[in-house]
Amino acid sequence: MKTNSRILSLCIAVLVTLITVILLRWILVIEAPWIKVVSITFTCTFIVSLVLLELLLFNEIRKITSLLNQSTSQSTESAPPLPGHKMEDFEQALKSYSELKQLEIDQLKSMAAYRREFLADISHELKTPIFAAQGFVHTLLDGAINDDNVKMRFLKKAAKSLDGLDALVQDLLVLSKLETGQITMDIQNFNMFELTLEVFEQLENKAAKKDIKLALGSGAYKNIIVRGDRHRISQVVRNLVLNGIYYTDENGRVTVDFEVKSDKVVVHVTDNGKGIPTEHLDRIFQRFYRVEKSRGRSHNRGGTGLGLAIVKHILEQHQSQIKVKSNINKGSDFYFELPKGKLIN
Ligand SMILES: Nc1ncnc2c1ncn2[C@@H]1O[C@H](COP(=O)(O)OP(=O)(O)OP(=O)(O)O)[C@@H](O)[C@H]1O
Ligand SMILES: [Mg+2]
Repeated sequence: MKTNSRILSLCIAVLVTLITVILLRWILVIEAPWIKVVSITFTCTFIVSLVLLELLLFNEIRKITSLLNQSTSQSTESAPPLPGHKMEDFEQALKSYSELKQLEIDQLKSMAAYRREFLADISHELKTPIFAAQGFVHTLLDGAINDDNVKMRFLKKAAKSLDGLDALVQDLLVLSKLETGQITMDIQNFNMFELTLEVFEQLENKAAKKDIKLALGSGAYKNIIVRGDRHRISQVVRNLVLNGIYYTDENGRVTVDFEVKSDKVVVHVTDNGKGIPTEHLDRIFQRFYRVEKSRGRSHNRGGTGLGLAIVKHILEQHQSQIKVKSNINKGSDFYFELPKGKLIN
């Protein structure tokens, strides 16, 4: 039943009138003009309770309802409902407010957990190259510096660890800037075929070391123009081709291919490498996530697990998405879409 001040006053008035009549007629046994008694008692009680309820109770409830509605609508960015006159409106506002607060508490909890996990991951990843470099430098200081052979070897190893540390910090900076929207995309038309050749050129040494062939697929022809941030998309293709090289055994093949549709181009980076188990497919785009950790291999190449997180963020800034299909020991196909572009001469 909907409760408001009028209904409550009506109930109080009926009750008081009934009690008055019972008191006068059956307990005090007084004879009176009952119609007048009933109407006067009823009207007076109704008016007095209405005024009192309005002033003391419902006015305050309306203020609280309006405050609750305002704070709920500020958080959800919707227009606040009009302050209600009924208890049900107050109840509804209180319910929405408490649901919203619960949602905020849940979000804060998951953010706190994420921060804790992130701090643990980052300290772990930083610790490895720092300890390695520290170890080499201390060994040199403890006397190895006098042995010319050992000196050069250890200095090179220390430098390699520090280079790894630098790459990790750079990746983290890019990722955090992408996440906070500090890096904006410089969208332009560019030739995707040329960009792919440039990436192949940068990575041919790495591929050659493993006898891996970098190839263009049958859909890759010279005039594939897309729209996007050329530099960032080059980073995406580079990270995907690098992964193809890293996670494919010797004599493998990494292929870049294009599927041209009416208004978009789908870019595929495929390899015939070790593949990714299905249960990991959702998580490889999270930062620091590496399948190798759970593959339990001691000889993994020690990537930091940031490459695909960067890829995901860059593509999200292009309103696109990175997707993957993979088969164990057969290979993986990472692909994403970009809008078709036009070259303006
Ligand atoms: N082409 C692939 N084939 C098999 N596994 C892959 C492939 N690409 C990514 N993975 C798996 O996904 C994980 C995450 O990849 P990601 O590129 O984010 O990190 P990483 O290569 O380990 O390190 P980083 O790229 O930061 O140097 C990898 O550790 C690897 O286990
Ligand atoms: Mg990688």
